[in-house]
Formats: sequence, structure tokens, C-alpha cells
Amino acid sequence: MVNYSCSTCHKIFKQKGHYDSHLLRKRPCVKDDTIDKLIERKVEEILQSKTHTEPNVNILKHIKYVDLFAGIGGFRYGIEEFQRKNPKFQFECIKTVDIKKDALNTYNLNFGEENKPCDIRTVKDLPHFELLCAGFPCQPFSSAGKKEGFDDATRGNLIYEVIRICTESNPSFLVLENVSNIEKLQNGAILQRIIQEFTDIGYAMSYKTINSMDVGLAQDRERTFIFGTKTTAVSPNIILKLQHSKQVISDIIDVSDKHTDIPKQFLDTLLSRDPVSLYGMSIKDKRGGDKNLHSWDINYHGTTTTRQRDLLNAILKERRKKTWAKAKEIVWMDGMPLTTPEIETFTKYTGLQDDLDDLTEKGYLTLEHPKDLVDGKREYKETSPKGYNICKGKLSFPISKVLDPKGYCPTLTATDSSKLAVYNAGTIRRLNKTELCRLCGFPERLKIADSANMYDLFGNMVCPPVVTSILECIFG
Ligand SMILES: C[S@@+](CC[C@H](N)C(=O)[O-])C[C@H]1O[C@@H](n2cnc3c(N)ncnc32)[C@H](O)[C@@H]1O
Repeated sequence: MVNYSCSTCHKIFKQKGHYDSHLLRKRPCVKDDTIDKLIERKVEEILQSKTHTEPNVNILKHIKYVDLFAGIGGFRYGIEEFQRKNPKFQFECIKTVDIKKDALNTYNLNFGEENKPCDIRTVKDLPHFELLCAGFPCQPFSSAGKKEGFDDATRGNLIYEVIRICTESNPSFLVLENVSNIEKLQNGAILQRIIQEFTDIGYAMSYKTINSMDVGLAQDRERTFIFGTKTTAVSPNIILKLQHSKQVISDIIDVSDKHTDIPKQFLDTLLSRDPVSLYGMSIKDKRGGDKNLHSWDINYHGTTTTRQRDLLNAILKERRKKTWAKAKEIVWMDGMPLTTPEIETFTKYTGLQDDLDDLTEKGYLTLEHPKDLVDGKREYKETSPKGYNICKGKLSFPISKVLDPKGYCPTLTATDSSKLAVYNAGTIRRLNKTELCRLCGFPERLKIADSANMYDLFGNMVCPPVVTSILECIFG
């Protein structure tokens, strides 16, 4: 493609006396050897053809790229959409790498390819390419994980494989993606180290947290994108044209889907309530203010009295207090079992023990020893007396949240996206594939391989519209 704002194109056009000043744009063009040569050749072609009176926008800029940790192809769909909007570009994926069979089967099904699962550590001798995309595994960096960062013996180190491939293949551009928590990890030291490693091999680096809601999706998903470029002609600073989401959950609901697989008893309990009272509510036996329904609020394990519910609420709150850990001589953890005498210090009435027994029998409470930290692991301290503890957590119920039709979807994760539900056609059901595609910005024609767990795949993907917006900043 001829870029009239590019100094190379200018020079050639000026030399040949074909310089069109009105076409001058401020942005410099990509200054990569291969691309420059291509431009030069194309400019020559135009100059030699007698027909050129207008810039030839149909000339292609051919960019080869690799899709590392490809998953179900969020980067690739984002690139394809950019190409659709900017037909003068032609992107070619020359290598797809992922170790997970289910993800790759899904990828192959949609892109008509036959990529074999492969460990990035075995990837060598790639042909030349200009753009590297990698949503490197986030488990060691996510707030839900152990936060070990680079100390994680396996997955954390996979970023070094990306650095190795960049050293060997010298692509002009990098777009990396990870959870936004990477910025906070070890007070930013992990991210700085990644940036330093790429800087050391010649890349100008920058990073930006981008929320998928800022590119119009109804999912609140914050991810950190790390950019690298080998050329000083292109600013690594990405300034997105933000367009805060106009979509909310009601816009993405697939109204035609009236099927639900939520167990009947649980479903009936929920449906016995006014649906509006469920919107935006989490279903978990954890603290969560007035946006939380506990198992006893919905009589999940059978009917409870008001006095029993008050007791459970009091235990839920008290069991988090550090004073109990001190008294039990254990390392504090959120949610310690409390003995009857301990409970009596904050709730005392005749019949308390009967209520504790009844709630334990029904399954609202469990009787257990407290846990202590032994060699870095949680272990029951059997010398400490058993106490009563709330036994259900966040993911103990068939669903964990009913999405508010006027609100947004929280970040889809591999572990709990199957527990997010919508109210539709008089019933409550999990998100279906069409809705996941809409929430993530994938085409609705996306097929999922039979063996795959779609919730797991969508929980790990990168949202294609975010990738498209980034490419618009880099190449647009
Ligand atoms: C965060 S996901 C990236 C998903 C992708 N961006 C998408 O849009 O679906 C990380 C991916 O890295 C893959 N992976 C993990 N370890 C790997 C390894 N050693 N070699 C190749 N791929 C690996 C996982 O299977 C997973 O699909």
C-alpha cells in the first residue's frame, strides 16, 4: 500500500515529481524493512503505470503474524475484523500455537485448519513474520491464583518462550495480553521485568489496561495489553477511540432459548420469588451486602426460622474476626469455625444448641476443627475443639448470579462463567453460546468442538473487538 504520510513514500513520490501534499496525514507509517520494501515496489509500480491520478488504496499491506496461546482465536477474529474494515491490509496467520486440544479443535473447526496441539517450548525456526500476538497464560498472575508470578515453575515462565521467539524471529510488532492484576503483582515488579526483557532485545514498549466495556461490549472485563514495536516511527502508545458500552444484558439475551438445565428444586425456589428481586443478586454463603442471597434466604437446605437465619448471619460475620484466630492460636484465615461458647459471646438464647444442631443436620453449618498454616499449607488443627462453620461458598450452588438485565456481565472466568444466569421466558438459565459470543464480541457463527467446555474457553479468551481497536491504533 502507498502511505502518503510515510517518509519513504514521500521521498519516492517527490523524486518522481508526484507528491500530493493534500494527502499528507500526520501519522507516520510502519517502518519495517519488509513493509518498506513492499511499499517501495508498489510505489514504483504505480509510477510506472500511466493511470495513477488518485492514490491506489487497493494495494495491500501484507502482514504475517503468529497466534501464540491461541485458545479459540480471539486475536485472529480481532485481526480478521480489522482486515474487513481495512481491506488494504492483508493479514496472514503463519503459525497457531496452543497446547490444549479442546481449544485447538474449536479453533480448527472455525478457521478450517488442522493445527496440532503443541507446547510453545517446542516452537522453533519460524518463517519471518511481522506481528506476534500472545495472550500468555494468566494463572500465575491472576488475583484468584497464588500470585507467584515468575516464581511459578512452569506457566509463569512461558513469557520467556515469547521473548525467545521474538529474539529468534525479530517481529516488528508485539501485542501481548494478560489479566490486569499483572500490573499490581509484586508492586508492579513483574510487569516491569517483562517490559525490561523486551526492551533489552530492542523493543519500544508500552502497556494499557483496556476494559471490554470500552469497546462496546456488555462484559466488564479488564485486561492489560502490552505493546512492543521495533521501530521508533510508530508510537507504542495506544490511544483507543473509546465508546463506552451501549449494550446491557437485555441486549445480549437470546430470547429464543427457553431451555434450562438448572436442578428443578433450586429453580423452583428461585422462581417462587419476584424475578426483579433476583436481578443482580449473587447466590453465595459469603458476605456481599444487600446484593447477596444466602442459602438460608432461599431455604436451599430446607426451611429456617427467622431466629436461625439471624444466627447464621451473625456467624457469617463473626467468623472473620482476627480475635478468634488469636484465641485459637492459629494463623488467621477468612472464616473460622466457632464453638458454642464462642457463639454465645455474641448470640445467646435458650435453644441455641438446638438451632446449631438443626442447621448442621440440614447442611447449613458444618462442625469442624479450625485450620492452621503448616509449612505454607492449610491443615486442620485437631488439638483445637471443633466449631460451627458455614459450609457453602461462592460456587456451591447451581448458579452464582442472576444477571441484571439493565446491567453488565462480570468478567467471564473459566471457573465461574457457567454459574452466571439470565432470566428469560419465565425461567432462569445459564448463559448460552450465542450470549457468550455477544458478551465477548465473537461472531455468533462460532462453533465449539464437541468435547470442549465452552465456559472454560470463553473464560480464557481475548475479546476480538479489543484487538480490532488496538490494530486500528497501530495500523489505522
Ligand atoms: C489465556 S489463554 C489465551 C486464549 C486466547 N487468547 C483466546 O482468545 O482464546 C492461554 C492459552 O495458553 C495455552 N497454553 C498454556 N500453556 C501452553 C504451552 N506450554 N504451550 C502452548 N500453549 C499453552 C492454554 O491452552 C490457553 O488456551
